[in-house]
Amino acid sequence: MKRILPLMPRSVLTLSAPAKINLWLRVTGKRDDGYHEVETRLCPISLEDEISLSKRTDKAVKLSCSDATVPTNESNLVLRSLRAFESATGTRSGWDIHLEKHIPHGAGLGGGSSDAAAMLRGLNDLGGSPLGQQELSDLAATIGSDVPFFLHETVCDATGRGEKVQPVEFPWRLPLVLIKPSFNIPTPWAYQGWAESRELPGTLYAPQLCEWGNMVNDLERPVFEKWTLLPTLKTWLLDQPETHAALMSGSGSTMFAIARSGADAAALAERAKVFCGETTWVQVAETL
Ligand code: C5P
Repeated sequence: MKRILPLMPRSVLTLSAPAKINLWLRVTGKRDDGYHEVETRLCPISLEDEISLSKRTDKAVKLSCSDATVPTNESNLVLRSLRAFESATGTRSGWDIHLEKHIPHGAGLGGGSSDAAAMLRGLNDLGGSPLGQQELSDLAATIGSDVPFFLHETVCDATGRGEKVQPVEFPWRLPLVLIKPSFNIPTPWAYQGWAESRELPGTLYAPQLCEWGNMVNDLERPVFEKWTLLPTLKTWLLDQPETHAALMSGSGSTMFAIARSGADAAALAERAKVFCGETTWVQVAETL
């Protein structure tokens, strides 16, 4: 996976920020701090945002983004990373930052978290590694539960609220079809609905037994109750000859299929567009 590319003289560096899927996500209980305990396996995938960073001669920070629906104020996780890094290291510089979005947001693909992690890593590399791995990981966890995972460039198992990560051996490169309907699902909403949620009849929630583990997502239960297109989509994906397994990623709304070895994932993606409507975001990718 590429990390840092030297650019033209004025541009200091570009950072790539991959999306993720959860191959499984089990919620094991609610905590006193409002978060939920999870056991999940996160896989980086070949869909990436790009962040270009160039240092300014003054101390101003300007963020632009290719997607007009993404806020470019201090609430953006890239700027939250910058501010967290500045506080932790006692440094301050001016930056022109451009965020080229390819990962849809509100999608369960970790786009904002990955941008945040790439920014932290990039600033730390540029500054000659003032923060060690553990400090960087602790800082990442203050920005979001998924951010420490994205500091690693490999498949990880995560526990706690998702911030305790352990890299794992993962010899597979799985072909994927990702489908993100037009609606976004707020992560807090999905978790808050988990305890009281029920299974819809006729929908497969049970673990799908695969060579790499049992694919299951406990957040499907609350999310499917409200966004009923998603169970329809899961059932449709599971019926397709190219599909090996199908699941929601994270808290949704992206559904993904893992294509069978040798199957035509592009053909599945084309039919998914017809099934969901031409304006639906459908993407072929693979695990990294
Ligand atoms: O950590 P992050 O900012 O991604 O979490 C967003 C929200 O999702 C949290 O405020 C919480 O409501 C919910 N959440 C949770 N349990 C987790 C992760 C997130 O309840 N393990």
